[in-house]
Formats: sequence, structure tokens, C-alpha cells
Amino acid sequence: MPVLTPEGWALLNSLEGYRESEALALSTRLRGEGHAPELVSAVLTQLKFRSKAAAKFGPFAGHMVFTRAGLEQATRMNVAALHAGRFAAAGVASVADLGCGIGADSMALAALDLEVTAVERDETVAAAATINLMPFPNASVVCADAEEWLGALDGSGGANPDTSGTSARPSARLEGFWLDPARRVVSSSGSSRVFDPEAFSPPLSFVERLADTGAPVGVKLGPALPHASVPAGCEAQWVSVDGSLTEAVLWFNALARPGVRRSALVLGGGSAATGGGGESAAGGAGPASGAEGGRSPAELSSAENFGDSPAVPVAGLEGLTDYLYEPDPAVIRAGLVADLIEREFTAVGGRLLDEHIAYFCADDAVDTPFATGYRVLEVMPYKVKGLRRWVKETGVGRLDIKKRGVDVTPEELRRLLMTGQGKGGKGGKGGKATGGAGKGAGRHATLVLTRIGEERVAVEVEPLPR
Ligand SMILES: C[S@@+](CC[C@H](N)C(=O)[O-])C[C@H]1O[C@@H](n2cnc3c(N)ncnc32)[C@H](O)[C@@H]1O
Repeated sequence: MPVLTPEGWALLNSLEGYRESEALALSTRLRGEGHAPELVSAVLTQLKFRSKAAAKFGPFAGHMVFTRAGLEQATRMNVAALHAGRFAAAGVASVADLGCGIGADSMALAALDLEVTAVERDETVAAAATINLMPFPNASVVCADAEEWLGALDGSGGANPDTSGTSARPSARLEGFWLDPARRVVSSSGSSRVFDPEAFSPPLSFVERLADTGAPVGVKLGPALPHASVPAGCEAQWVSVDGSLTEAVLWFNALARPGVRRSALVLGGGSAATGGGGESAAGGAGPASGAEGGRSPAELSSAENFGDSPAVPVAGLEGLTDYLYEPDPAVIRAGLVADLIEREFTAVGGRLLDEHIAYFCADDAVDTPFATGYRVLEVMPYKVKGLRRWVKETGVGRLDIKKRGVDVTPEELRRLLMTGQGKGGKGGKGGKATGGAGKGAGRHATLVLTRIGEERVAVEVEPLPR
């Protein structure tokens, strides 16, 4: 890494901030000052990474070193702080971070005064982790394959950290383990995501064998983790930040909370380094201690196995009145929609519309961190012709579309409905599209498309203030 030479490091740290529009002028100036073009290019790349990383690391990003993949894969600081807090709350004093990347999780663990051994097999990434962990004398980085490194410690050759199948720990010095396995494979044509837990590096079976030793183990996985892949006896936690799913985490042994099989941890608002969220109103209280300032993270949990949910009313199309709610994606992925209705919406007639669709309705507005609420304005059949007429007759100039359970690309449908209503806006992501003709060119409407039994409906809604 050219920025880790004395000249590169000094140059990088002499420059502050990064503006794409000024990059060329800055590059010309630095080369004019006699710095080698490769070094200037590497320094500008790091400045760009630091600027991008502020979303995950707040002001810490300005002192860190990144690789492109390392930054993409790194855990956000506020989430890492919550995970680290769980180790501290369980009384774990030393942790091995097996596959530490650029060291985001290790930093959070070290910041809580835990002894951290950060193991990373990629030399460049390990160098970045070494710089990032420099402020923490209680953390050290080892450049090695984690499985071999662990095997060398316990003498098993790395293939099987569970030496006896009973309670032998891989190392007396290491009390706990954190893993965030790589979930991408790199090939000559780029990198692609892998979904089979056995194709992760290290694989999930390695993590399970480690957990079988009885050691406290936490592993971060992709949020699409199928429920069938969740091993028995651990706690599964889905995390969302600002309404986007970030990860699923499995907690084993002392890190698994008694009486919690699955949970949804919802963080929102606040800065990356503080971890804002909504006030918790339901569910098991967890070691969610990563917030300074802002609001606390909120957690909803259940002791029941996947598929064991409380019975809640299913109302069908007639139930589609008053207020519509869309649960947070962490609540949906953790299979906790019925639990949410039972705990927070029973008093206001909470009801599912279709047992397979996560939208639900209630008679009144409820302020909860676990769902976004809307007032129902009009229920229409989901037919393009009729909806085009509705757009025209009611003067819709800007249209947001959300959908669940219907096979449609919101951006395309919006274009279809808005053609002839003004200029197109920009499309949203996934099940949502936002846009329209712009300010002053008609009203702003929100449409929810869904399926209730055999009926496909389009519901005009108005978001409730949060
Ligand atoms: C998802 S990243 C970790 C990100 C990290 N938790 C963070 O927040 O910065 C996974 C890392 O594990 C490393 N890795 C994968 N397999 C490994 C192995 N067997 N031994 C050591 N490191 C490994 C990869 O090189 C990659 O940097």
C-alpha cells in the first residue's frame, strides 16, 4: 500500500476532505510538487474512501485506512458497538476476530477494553487493520488464515477446533470469537455474492464447530439467511439501520440471551458513530448499549422457534381500512410480524390482511419503531387503466409506489402511470419507486400495491408523521 510508506502517510494526513470536483486540480498540484503519480493516485483513492466511510464511521473515518472491498464489507460503527457490547455484557475479556477485514468490529471490541486478536489472511487488508487498530494497545493483528491459526494454537491443525466434542476451548487465552465471514467470491470477471453458508469463508460449519466447544461465539451473516440454516440452540438476530436490513447475527453459548430464539434490532436516525434508533416499546430487552445521544436502538424478540407465531386476526380485503402498517424489514426477516401485532396493536384492532403478506391494518395510529404507518385514503383495484385515470383525475404530479406480494417493477409502473403527466423523476430501489414531475406540478401521492387472497389492490395512503 503506497499510502503506508512514510511519504504516503504524511501526504495523506496533510490533506483534509475530498471533493470529486476538486480531485483533478489536487492531483495536478501534488504531482507538480514532485510526488510520484502512483502515490498521488493512491492518496486520492484513500481520501475518497475516507469521505465515503464517514457514513459508517463518522469522524473516525478521517484517521482510517481502507481497501475498496474492506470498506464495503465493514460493519457500521454503531452496529459494531452493539455487537461488542454483547461480549462485554457476557463478561468476555478477550476476543479473536477471525477474518477481521479492515478491523471495524475489532475497533469496537477494543474500544470496550477487551483484548482483541484480529486475524486476517489478506496482507493488504491486514495492514489496513493494523493502522486502524493502532490507537488500541489492547488489540493486535495477525496476518494468517484463521482456521490454520486457530488450529496451530490448539494443535488440531485447524481443521477441527472442537478437539473433544465436550468443553475443550481452542485456547485458554482466548475466551470469545467473533466472525464476519467473507460472502463474496472473487474471479477474473469481478466478485459475486455467495449465499450457501458452506461457501462462506470461513464456512458456517467451522463456526458451529467452534461454538460446539462451548466458547462464546458471534457470527455476522447476510440478512437473507434462510431460517432453515439457523443452527439449533443459538439466538438469531436481524439488524436494520434506517429501514434497510444490514445483517443477521447468530449468537452462541454465553452470548445467546436466555429466552430469546430470534430478534429484530432496529436502529434509525442518529449519526453512524452514535447509533440512533426508536424507543423500544416491546419485546425482550437486550444488551443494546451502542447509543450515545440520539434515541436508543429498539429490539423485538421471541423465545419461540421459527414458524411458531401467535395467532392474530386475518381480516382479508374488508380489513383494509383506517391505518396500514409496513413492518421494519428486520421484524419481517425475524418472522416477528404476528408478535408485533399482538404486542403493540391488539388494543387498536391489529389484523393481517393476508397471512402471507407482511402489511397489516389497525383502527388507529400507533407510533412504533418497528413499523411505518400510513393512513388509508382510497382502496382501488390494481388495474393499470384505472390507475392511469386516477392519476389524471386527481392531479398526481409525483408518485411513490411501494409493493409487497405483487409481481411488478415499481419504477416501470410509475413510468406507465405518469406518462403524459409531466417529466419523469428518478426511480427508487427494490420494492419502492419515488418520483414525478417535480415541485408545483401536481400533488404528491403514495400508492401501496399488494395482494389479499386472490385480489390485487392499489391503496392510496398518506404516511403518518414519525
Ligand atoms: C466480511 S470481511 C470482515 C469485515 C470486518 N468484520 C469489518 O467490519 O471490517 C471478511 C474478511 O475475512 C477475511 N477472510 C476470509 N477467510 C479468511 C480466513 N480463512 N482466514 C482469515 N481471514 C479470512 C477476508 O479476507 C475478509 O477481509
